[in-house]
Amino acid sequence: LRQAEGIEVDYQPGLDEAALAEAIRGASGLIIRSGSRVTARVIEAADQLKAIGRAGIGVDNIDIAAASKRGIAVMNTPTGNAVTTAEHALSLMMSLARHIPQATSSMKAGKWEKKKFKGRELAGKTLGGGGLGTIRRIVADRAKGLKMNVVAFDPVLTSDRAAALGVELVELDAVWAAADIITVHTPLTPHTKGMINDEVVPKLKPGVLLINCARGGIYDEDAVLRGLESGHIGGAAFDVFPVEPPPADSPLLQHPRVVCTPHLGASTQEAQDRVAEQIAEQLVAFLDAGEVKNALNVPAV
Ligand code: MLT
Repeated sequence: LRQAEGIEVDYQPGLDEAALAEAIRGASGLIIRSGSRVTARVIEAADQLKAIGRAGIGVDNIDIAAASKRGIAVMNTPTGNAVTTAEHALSLMMSLARHIPQATSSMKAGKWEKKKFKGRELAGKTLGGGGLGTIRRIVADRAKGLKMNVVAFDPVLTSDRAAALGVELVELDAVWAAADIITVHTPLTPHTKGMINDEVVPKLKPGVLLINCARGGIYDEDAVLRGLESGHIGGAAFDVFPVEPPPADSPLLQHPRVVCTPHLGASTQEAQDRVAEQIAEQLVAFLDAGEVKNALNVPAV
């Protein structure tokens, strides 16, 4: 941004809503990561704002409807942290399959519990989920390398295209019935909220492993806890939570077969550098030349 001609940079991380509403006056562009909330109040206070750029994928911290009403473009970087997030999902899958975090804690407590942590092999197992978007395609590609079968439900993709990606397209109920491991890679929407709930849990394979490094709430976390307690769900890994951070005494977090990380899906140096550069370039191109790339409320130009 500092190299771009005619751009003055005002770097103010960590502003709360009121401070951001104050700071936004006079600004033409705003770049945020996940920590800032661009609410209707902030947008209302923005007298010159033309574009909001999110260095990352999720835009649930931006009131897009309010921005659209004011004619403000909202952009993200849908590919910059996709590999990193896919790798995190695979790390959680390995951790669940081989009890790595639990075994580490046990050894640090001076124990040698070899029998307790017998794991599962992944080769030949079926990995499933809904939606074959950017992140899932990368997950699927890596899972094929591990000799796993990949099944997915995607109402938009053709089976030929899915087959080219090495993925078998099936109905959602067939995903639930076939998958040894389920990972979700969709935004949280009214359609995806509670995708795995009390009705779905009995349809899952006994012992299934669940992974969520997309958005909290895509699984109904209470239903997952009940599934873990009944033994139907073998283990679950969460990187994201409906409220972040979740309460430390959450029974889900405390469950012995739950692995968790504090929303680290996109947290690698490489991904953070990439999304920062991408959003800076996108914003400058928009402010300078009206070029629209990766906007969620404006067609690409
Ligand atoms: C994203 O939406 O880009 C990821 O969840 C990363 C984040 O929000 O920090």
